Formats: sequence, structure tokens, C-alpha cells
Amino acid sequence: MAKSKTKTIYTCQNCGAQRPRWEGKCTDCGAWNSFVEELQLPEVKTRGWSTGSPEKGSPSAKPVSLDQSLEEVKLDRFDTDYEELNRVLGGGLARGSFVLLGGSPGIGKSTLLLQMAGGLAKHKHKVLYISGEESVSQTGSRAHRLGIRSPLIEIGCESNLHSIMELARFKKPEVLVVDSIQTMFLPDLQAAPGSVSQVRECAGHLMGLAKQEGITVILIGHVTKDGNIAGPKVLEHMVDCVLSFDGDASYNFRLLRALKNRFGAAHELGVFQMNSKGLEEVANPSELFLEERGDQLIGSAVFASMEGTRPLLCEVQALTLSSPMAMPRRTALGIDVNRLHLLTAVLDRHLDVRLSSNDIFINVVGGLKLVEPAADLAVAAAILSTEGRRDLDAKTCFFGEIGLTGEVRGVSFAENRIKEGDKLGFQHFVIPYSNKRHLADLKLSKDKKITFIKNVRDLSRLI
Ligand code: TYD
Ligand code: MG
Repeated sequence: MAKSKTKTIYTCQNCGAQRPRWEGKCTDCGAWNSFVEELQLPEVKTRGWSTGSPEKGSPSAKPVSLDQSLEEVKLDRFDTDYEELNRVLGGGLARGSFVLLGGSPGIGKSTLLLQMAGGLAKHKHKVLYISGEESVSQTGSRAHRLGIRSPLIEIGCESNLHSIMELARFKKPEVLVVDSIQTMFLPDLQAAPGSVSQVRECAGHLMGLAKQEGITVILIGHVTKDGNIAGPKVLEHMVDCVLSFDGDASYNFRLLRALKNRFGAAHELGVFQMNSKGLEEVANPSELFLEERGDQLIGSAVFASMEGTRPLLCEVQALTLSSPMAMPRRTALGIDVNRLHLLTAVLDRHLDVRLSSNDIFINVVGGLKLVEPAADLAVAAAILSTEGRRDLDAKTCFFGEIGLTGEVRGVSFAENRIKEGDKLGFQHFVIPYSNKRHLADLKLSKDKKITFIKNVRDLSRLI
């Protein structure tokens, strides 16, 4: 019998590793059940991109010495007309950059980029928006509903990457939006759109477009059910900027974060609100997160967090109940549950509270996720308040890290946090003692007070 000519190979959809046979677990990245059968690709000779060879004297291939005047290598940035988006991008969209925007379905990625296109057009930049998911009339009618009309924006519906590259080279937009890299495909590859090889190759071609032609390319990427960007990790390495757009299904605000940014600070946060007119910027998110704060303030503490370079006030709530179970429950929404275990242990040991037989619930209002250890003090204050049934003053704000010996440790950006609280009318700040020396030249009005504390006993006394 003649041997079949087409060979198949198994590719890990997580890391791109290839095996001749199916395996349950990828030995390269450890992912389970990630191998998918794909047709073996012919050898591709031109992978990646090159700006020319030094022999030909192509100027872009010449190394540039760093002592040149900075003017020459200064990044050109586009104003997107959205302050929040500009800040997350590190001061506007850089020319020739390659950006990936990830988010779960229906969160508003297409809306955000369509509105961004409108904003760019206002500043006289030319945008080409290619959707592989929606027809031209769908995208167009949505744009009109959002009030975006401009001759500088062109929309198209296409999923063949060769056609998109040709179109982009012909139209020469300043910004190209590709609505979902998972729907794009190269006809030379046999694998289905969205598979590792398609995503990787398509992204490679688009990166070439960005770097050679100086077109800013923004990709939309789907996320898997555990919240990672679908497709190979190499996609995240390729791009200059990874933005994640998320939000809670039950709240209408959306958080835009920079997870990686070659042109600015990572972990910068932008806040938007989705309403009938599309996404609206929230200039003062602290107000939004504290809006529904009640008068019943047992077990509710305000924490001044830092999201990137911006302070953000939010409410931490705690509830403790004596537990009927041998293993009491610890539930934490918005903070790491291990952090809660640690705090409970510290409070139990160093203070006269018996938390070990209590169920403890922590909630950060508004679906925010706090990763900073600086939230410890606010969480501890909320727990002590609910445990002792004591009111916390509504105009008090907390921040500080708690160590295992019960000490309260200093945190960074104390001044910014206090200023934000001051702006919103907070009167009293409870902060670590070691932050005192950084605050020597902080000027607060007479009626405001700062209490410096050294350990959890000081906190307990205060409450
Ligand atoms: P969309 O941008 O299509 O999401 P994605 O591209 O991330 O899948 O957003 C769709 C959701 O946004 C949809 O559920 C409805 C909501 N939406 C509004 O509430 N108001 C609006 O003006 C628009 C355009 C969308
Ligand atoms: Mg979409």
C-alpha cells in the first residue's frame, strides 16, 4: 500500500511543542491534554522579519549609537483622545508598536478599539479596522451608533492574512486594528484558524508589518477560560504591549490594564464604564468604588491602593461568624486567600481575638482584585471591627503591610495614597510608622490627622 503523503504532527496548544505522537501531558510546559493533531507544515524559509541586510546598506539595519541626540530616536506617539487609554499605553499609542488586547467575550474589546479609532481620527490619524468576526455592516452600524463617523477610518471584513497585509501596504494606515488574531489564517498553513501555528505565523507577519512599515498594529486576542490569552505564550513575547480588558459581569465598569509594556509602566490601570453610548472614561474611579458605601460601617475599611502610578481608594469588607465546622471557612473575594490565612494567624497570635474557630469572609467591593500586601492593614482593620462589633470611622483610610511578627511595615507611594484620600475628604489616615520619614514635607490641612502605627496591637487599640 502506498504511504500517505500528508503527515500529521501533534502540537501543544499551550507552548507550541511538537511531537510525532499524541501525549497526554506536554513534557515541555507541563500542560495536560494540550496536544492537537495538525498537518505537518512545509518548511517555511522566511520566518520572522528583517529590515534589510547590512551588505545592501539598508539604513534601518545599521546599528545606532546611543549617544546620538535623543530627538532622533524619540518615540512618536498618537493621542487616542482617551486619557485612560493613553495612560495605560504609557502616554499614547507609539508609532510602529505591536499591541495585543486580551479579554473575555462580550467585555467590550471591539467597542474599545472602535472608539479608539474614532479618537485617533479626531487627531487626524488614519485607521484601518479589519474584523474577522463581524461583517462590514455590523461594524459600521455599531460605529455609527457610537457616533463615530470619519473619512479617516476604514473598516473591512477579512480573515485571510495575505489580503490584510496587501490591503495594509496599499492603504498605508497609521494604525491597523485586527479584530481577533484567532480568526486570521494564512492559506499556506493547513492548521485551522486559532491553532498555535496559525496564531504564531499570523502574528509574525503582522509584527513584520509593524516594524518594517511603521504601522501600529493592534491585535485583539481571545482569552481561555482561566483568563490567559489564548494561543501560544510566544505571542505575548512578540508584542510590545499586552493589555488586558476585564470587568465583572455584574458591574458595568471595565478595567484596562497593561500587563506588559515596552513603552511605559506596566500594571497601569484605566477605568471605563459601559453604558448605552459605549465605553465612557471614569476620571475619578475612587468615587465610583466608594459610591455605595453605607453608613453601617462595622467591618468596612477603606484602603488606599496604588494601581500602577495612580492611587485608588476602595472598600474592604469583612464578616466573621462562629463556625459550626471543625475547619472554619475562609473566603476571600478580591484578595489572595493565602494572605487571609496569614493575617488571621497573625491576629490570632498577637491579639486577644479568637479567630481560629470563626468563619471569615472578605470582600473587596466592586470586583477589584488587590495584589498589594499594603492591603493587609485595611483587611485586618475590617476583621477587628466586625469581630469586636466596633464602628470604624467612615472618614478613615488604611494602608500598610503586616508581617508575621505582627509588625506593620512601610509601603511605597505613601504620599500619593494620602493625597488621594485627602482629595476625597478623608480625615484620618492610619499608616505604618516607618513611612513617617517619607512624609516630612507633606502638607495636610489642620483637621486631617495621620496616625503612625508600629504593630497590630496599636491597630487593635485604635479600633
Ligand atoms: P464587544 O465590543 O462586542 O465585545 P467583545 O469584542 O469583547 O466581544 O461588546 C459587546 C458588549 O458590549 C455587548 O454585550 C453589549 C455591550 N455594549 C453596550 O452596553 N453599549 C454599547 O454601546 C455597545 C456598543 C456595546
Ligand atoms: Mg469583538
